[in-house]
Amino acid sequence: MNDINHFIAGLPKAELHLHIEGTFEPELMFKLAERNNITLPYESVEALHKAYDFNELQDFLDIYYQGMNVLRSEQDFYDLTWAYLEKVAAQNVRHIEIFFDPQGHVDRGISFETGLNGIFSALQQGEQEFDISFGIIMCFLRHLSEDDAFKTLELALPHKDKIIGVGLDSSEVGHPPSKFERVYAKARQEGFHSVAHAGEEGPPAYIWEALDLLKVERIDHGNSCLQDAALVEHIVKEQIPLTVCPLSNTKLCVVDDMKNHPLPEMLKRGIKATINSDDPAYFGGYLNENYQAISPLLGDNKEALATLARNSFTSAFISDDAKQGFLAEVDAYLQAN
Ligand code: HPA
Ligand code: ZN
Repeated sequence: MNDINHFIAGLPKAELHLHIEGTFEPELMFKLAERNNITLPYESVEALHKAYDFNELQDFLDIYYQGMNVLRSEQDFYDLTWAYLEKVAAQNVRHIEIFFDPQGHVDRGISFETGLNGIFSALQQGEQEFDISFGIIMCFLRHLSEDDAFKTLELALPHKDKIIGVGLDSSEVGHPPSKFERVYAKARQEGFHSVAHAGEEGPPAYIWEALDLLKVERIDHGNSCLQDAALVEHIVKEQIPLTVCPLSNTKLCVVDDMKNHPLPEMLKRGIKATINSDDPAYFGGYLNENYQAISPLLGDNKEALATLARNSFTSAFISDDAKQGFLAEVDAYLQAN
């Protein structure tokens, strides 16, 4: 490993944009399919891997929903989450806030609790074994109705001890944040944190809506903000974090080539950007690989990489004390390396 990749590997960091169903590696998918007597429409792990060739978000989503079909029991969700934890524990990820898509499971007869409890118990075990703190954010699927989202929020209300916030994902264009204004108002009233995917394929207007109407605390992706100077000014002034996902962006053709990734421009303009992996099993890399992909654009500069790690902790839904503790870890690491 070269020096900068070695530095990235040991850097303490948080992951704030990660869909747990997007960590489903083909090997595990085949194993669980066998356990559940499901026949996958692919002959082999290699054939499935080959299908991971996307021109846009919807290409990926079709395969992503097909993949999650294999998840049936609480143990399946536990195994999926545990496999992710083992990966990121080895990458010195210290805190995670992970998305799950309850509607992707409830709509095919798997109860809300089956998914949530399996994910939660693996995360608790991970906290004990790996010292990785965590939060769970449940996402509403934006291609479904407002009514569906309200029903999902109702299902979450008895589980406020396990769920810290709500998010919005799936097909963006044609499903603006405004569709969910009332659901988010209720979620906020119930004490949930809130985030939303916006500006991945959608226009800057969707980011404005997420901020003004949904009143979200972070924007997931947010790439298109750079097309709107007033929006950038607002995001900088309010220090709204963006959870940016480099390998996702190139895999889904949101960015044509990594060398043109907008992250350096975001940082230059004073945007509080963070690095995340989104759906690592589908996009070719976990958190370290995403930092590695961006690092050359920042001149392989350790201070710049440490800034990204600091942003990940200060943007997290954790106490000020916890943030200070993690920032001290980053500073100590930077001094020693
Ligand atoms: N965008 C929208 N929906 C998603 C994504 C994403 O990157 N990953 C999983 N669901
Ligand atoms: Zn995402």
